[in-house]
Amino acid sequence: MALGSDHAGRALKDFLLGHLGAQGHNCVDLGTYTDESVDYPDFGALVGNAVANGTAELGVCVCGTGIGISIAANKVSGVRAAVVHDVTSARLARQHNNANVVCVGQRVTTQEVASQALDAFLEATFEGGRHQRRIDKLSDLDKLRDS
Ligand code: RB5
Repeated sequence: MALGSDHAGRALKDFLLGHLGAQGHNCVDLGTYTDESVDYPDFGALVGNAVANGTAELGVCVCGTGIGISIAANKVSGVRAAVVHDVTSARLARQHNNANVVCVGQRVTTQEVASQALDAFLEATFEGGRHQRRIDKLSDLDKLRDS
């Protein structure tokens, strides 16, 4: 799993890294590594590219709200990044949207809620069926953009 954040999400990203490590997940920390101000598009792109090129199966992104870094990750073809705020949105992001990057905001959630949401995301599986048709349409949009 690839994790990335800007400065506003670094503490939560580090917490989630520890949380995942304690569960035995193989994680790569793509930064940022300090509280120095950085730009979330750089880290959303790093995580998105790691997922898109297969270096990582899934990504975890954190910024202040989860929004900016999700927008950045979603610019990478093949990435479906979802901002989640709780267990339900995290579970549905996987079951319905087949999200491959999960994004949370350090300024809008707690470590406890974020780690519970992340667990729910990892435990859930894509339901396919009618949702596959919609994922295919997302892939078509990627192709259109890349053409
Ligand atoms: C950084 O100050 C902040 O704007 C960023 O972390 C994020 O919340 C943007 O969506």
